[in-house]
Amino acid sequence: MRLKGKVAIVTGARRGIGKAVALALAGEGADLVLVSKNLQEEDVVVQEVKDLGRKVLVKRVDVGEKEQVEAMVEEAAAFFPRIDILFNNAGVCKTAMLWKLTPEEWDEVIRVNLSGTFFCLQAVSKIMMSQESGSIINVTSSEALLGTIGQVNYAAAKGGVHALTKSAAKELARFGIRVNTIAPMADTDMTKLIAHDPRFKDKYLERMPLGRFAGPEEIGPTIVFLASDESGFITGQTIGIDGGMVML
Ligand SMILES: NC(=O)c1ccc[n+]([C@@H]2O[C@H](COP(=O)([O-])OP(=O)(O)OC[C@H]3O[C@@H](n4cnc5c(N)ncnc54)[C@H](OP(=O)(O)O)[C@@H]3O)[C@@H](O)[C@H]2O)c1
Repeated sequence: MRLKGKVAIVTGARRGIGKAVALALAGEGADLVLVSKNLQEEDVVVQEVKDLGRKVLVKRVDVGEKEQVEAMVEEAAAFFPRIDILFNNAGVCKTAMLWKLTPEEWDEVIRVNLSGTFFCLQAVSKIMMSQESGSIINVTSSEALLGTIGQVNYAAAKGGVHALTKSAAKELARFGIRVNTIAPMADTDMTKLIAHDPRFKDKYLERMPLGRFAGPEEIGPTIVFLASDESGFITGQTIGIDGGMVML
């Protein structure tokens, strides 16, 4: 087991990529703090992680609320002896053309995707700085790297995540903390329309050399790698797990 004895916080863990990554990390031996806006003890992911024999702390948190994030990290640091990994994944998207985008749609997407990522990064990195080790994996998007119609708010937020990852990687390297980001493309609730509606699906597949959407479980192995010591000389990088859609 590559992560035995390590502790990971996974945000957006109730479904989609977050759930799949939580199970991948647990499968490699990590104990987990599962965080999500609507998470409950009864949720499938909680039972599945327990069935793998891992310890779990379940936290219902809105990552866009700084006080909730800080209280969650404080509790996690008291519950577990250390925090080794943050998969900073919670996100939302609200699709609208630029000229129809409301201030509320702009604010909510920036609040959750950009401020939420920052709040988790800041609170967890303070614990990791005292340990002098840690691996943080943020989540950006090809929408930010390439630009996409109907996603000005989301692209701005994820572009911010891409940029803050590099600055955080430079600031935190001296404390033994690595910070990377992934740009995934997977079939989840968030991508239901583009992955299944023929009006969008074919256009997306044309842009993806491997010609298909991944299942969320295909994202897990890269996160295990980035979380583990095997990637010990990798920091400040954006890794596309997107069938070749973005080639940097
Ligand atoms: N799927 C893709 O192809 C793709 C592509 C590029 C980037 N991404 C990014 O990858 C991440 C995961 O996406 P996904 O496809 O797995 O999406 P998803 O299936 O819609 O799941 C999103 C998760 O984020 C949680 N969440 C949303 N708002 C939250 C908040 N304010 N506080 C805490 N948790 C919150 C949700 O919580 P609840 O379940 O508790 O409601 C859910 O568990 C997101 O950052 C997304 O932007 C995805």
